[in-house]
Amino acid sequence: MKVTVLGAAGGIGQALALLLKTQLPAGSKLSLYDIAPVTPGVAVDLSHIPTDVEVKGFAGQDPSAALEGADVVLISAGVARKPGMDRSDLFNINAGIVRNLIEKVAVSCPKALVGIITNPVNTTVAIAAEVLKKAGVYDKNRLFGVTTLDVIRSETFIAEAKGLNVADVNINVIGGHSGVTILPLLSQIEGVSFSDEEVAALTTRIQNAGTEVVEAKAGGGSATLSMGQAACRFGLSLVRGLQGEANVVECAYVDGGSEHAEFFAQPVLLGKNGVEKVLPYGELSAFEANARDTMLDTLKGDIKIGVEFVK
Ligand code: NAD
Ligand code: LMR
Repeated sequence: MKVTVLGAAGGIGQALALLLKTQLPAGSKLSLYDIAPVTPGVAVDLSHIPTDVEVKGFAGQDPSAALEGADVVLISAGVARKPGMDRSDLFNINAGIVRNLIEKVAVSCPKALVGIITNPVNTTVAIAAEVLKKAGVYDKNRLFGVTTLDVIRSETFIAEAKGLNVADVNINVIGGHSGVTILPLLSQIEGVSFSDEEVAALTTRIQNAGTEVVEAKAGGGSATLSMGQAACRFGLSLVRGLQGEANVVECAYVDGGSEHAEFFAQPVLLGKNGVEKVLPYGELSAFEANARDTMLDTLKGDIKIGVEFVK
């Protein structure tokens, strides 16, 4: 397996690269690309860790060499939020970055599974899809918006709130990856009940968790370490699916034929071709059904901006 990280010298990229170097299956290749000249040095640094994962680093304007033969591409290239900004404020810079990188993916590794981390995810995934369509290589089963951070945050906050072992908490988070489009399905946690007040407070905390980090870092960026962990979990799940492991399920923002929007985050079964099956997200409480219906105008608007950017 070859996994390529684009944006690999950044806060997420370096954390993700470290985790992949220590957790990818033996014999894997890890390819790191960033416009920052330090990137080959990051690869040399990681290469001293004694695991059977070969690391190569690439810098400069062209990611093609890093992408050649990639099975999985994870993209965290772009700018991050500062206090007072919304994720949509990143569009002006990150839209073009994602478009240009995906144009290279379309040529160098059109069959790779691509996970987009760069914000605003609700929009950058739509940009990626349009670029791949233009290039004639779009396969909806191979493109993912990475929403795993919403899942791991939910697991953490629920376990904290209810005194549970976090390893026992599993949750679906559906919709998208910003504000009201992030919808954790708290009603589905087995053996746990929440009051209406708890549901409202936990949902709001999960939806605003990115801002919680942005404010705590006070101008120093957004979530990088927890995102590195989330992206590693998601990337390893993609690899496990590609290797034929059964029952690999993650929530992700996909073009999965949702009745709600062109892209919608929900659980997907991963396999040798990426999305094997889009799974139903189960029954919703009245609160969740209302939150899902209310988010749709925002989500569809975010997607439209991405589609129009490429056209
Ligand atoms: P960062 O500034 O630390 O790193 C970004 C890296 O991208 C830098 O090293 C920069 O040199 C590189 N870069 C910029 N343009 C590039 C290009 N054209 N090609 C290759 N590399 C390029 O930022 P970060 O904290 O790592 O965040 C990266 C992105 O991830 C942001 O857009 C942020 O909002 C997003 N993010 C998403 C999630 C999520 O849940 N999906 C979570 C956290 C952050
Ligand atoms: C997050 O959820 O932490 C990321 O999307 C980064 C951000 O800007 O909030």
